[in-house]
Amino acid sequence: MTEAKKLYVKTFGCQMNVYDSERMAEALVTQGYEQVDTADDADMILFNTCHIREKAAEKMYSDLGRLKPLHDAKPALKIAVAGCVAQAEGEEILRRQPMVDLVVGPQTYHRLPAMMQAVGRGERVLDTDFPEEDKFTLLPKDRRPARGPAAFLTVQEGCDKFCSFCVVPYTRGAEVSRPADRLLGEARDLVARGVREITLLGQNVNAYHGAGLDGGEWGLARLVRELARIDGLERIRYTTSHPNDMEDDLIAAHGDCEKLMPYLHLPVQSGSDRILKAMNRKHTAESYIRLIERIRAVRPDLVLSGDFIVGFPGETEADFQATLDLVERVGYGAAYSFKYSARPGTPAAERAGVDPAQADARLQRLQTLITAQQRATQEGMIGRVVKVLFEKPGRKEGQISGKSEYLHAVHCDGPATLLGQIALVEIIATQSNSLTGRLYAQP
Ligand code: 5AD
Ligand code: SF4
Repeated sequence: MTEAKKLYVKTFGCQMNVYDSERMAEALVTQGYEQVDTADDADMILFNTCHIREKAAEKMYSDLGRLKPLHDAKPALKIAVAGCVAQAEGEEILRRQPMVDLVVGPQTYHRLPAMMQAVGRGERVLDTDFPEEDKFTLLPKDRRPARGPAAFLTVQEGCDKFCSFCVVPYTRGAEVSRPADRLLGEARDLVARGVREITLLGQNVNAYHGAGLDGGEWGLARLVRELARIDGLERIRYTTSHPNDMEDDLIAAHGDCEKLMPYLHLPVQSGSDRILKAMNRKHTAESYIRLIERIRAVRPDLVLSGDFIVGFPGETEADFQATLDLVERVGYGAAYSFKYSARPGTPAAERAGVDPAQADARLQRLQTLITAQQRATQEGMIGRVVKVLFEKPGRKEGQISGKSEYLHAVHCDGPATLLGQIALVEIIATQSNSLTGRLYAQP
């Protein structure tokens, strides 16, 4: 038997990329590759890249440059670039970086085995099509053991919203939903491989409208309810959502579907209606707040998270103040905030940006407020008994760590036999990004 070749995969960006990386690694098994954890003695290195902000894309180029010594030491090393930078800048990557053998976009990686054969013949390959065929139906079934009890499942890809700052509609393409039978099948397979929690992924996941089992079209709520019937699947989450796609049945599911976890990532981007309009968001600050009230009415303990962009072209101090006001009113358990980054090809990139120093200062102010809210939410957990799905050994000897239903990282002393299982934990302390607890014995 020939020895397996070593594949090292580095993933940048969002959870969809994490999912895609696993699928690509699986597709390369057919070419004799097995995945390893370090680049050092790899035969192939694959970067799965992110194009959402300039910094993310630049990081990819600098990390790529740093592979030179490895490539010099082993000229047969194959280097592949996948994902959204590949989609957006494929030709440029090949031009800028002669070491790269293969560039593949997010919609064509099912063709990787054939591409690798071309690479083996000494060709440099570029494939950034948006093909008719569905890559997911053509990819091999993943038969490797699950990497842990929490897994991702891509149910929808692409976006038709065209927010004026965002590259996603161009790099990932139009919205496409996968059929429910495939998803239910994949979920059952994951559960059979030890998975207890599935996070449904999509750039616009709550716009899911896939073919249902009954011949009709199913929305996300229906899909969640069907998934909830799978024995052994204990938890369901979904991300990322758009406020305008939070339909009544999905809100209702937050109230009555026990397996749907009380954590929701619902980006708003700005609290200023003027800026929201310029962003082409098609909702207002007030409509977002009303929506949150409706979700909290059915699930009062919901922990909410969001995304914000500061320094969007034309943002004034008053606009920014409106964002701070919205954050104050909503109360987030966690949130991500970014300085606006002009992306080539998007409508907003044509507009004059705000002074970078001012944008930096605003980002700082927003992050201070968000951090305070996050801390308050975490402190509010102290004394509460939560359910933790233990995923891995903790950093300290004898500790295990996992996630609560609210997506807080929790660690506590406990036996390794609890890994992969859900147990009650009483929260006793909070650190900046995690909680400490102790196993709770029911009285
Ligand atoms: N600049 C800064 N942040 C951006 N995001 C998307 N595009 C940009 C951009 N051009 C942020 C949004 C989105 C998150 C994934 O990234 O907040 O919700
Ligand atoms: Fe980008 Fe999300 Fe807007 Fe779609 S909804 S364009 S993915 S920010």
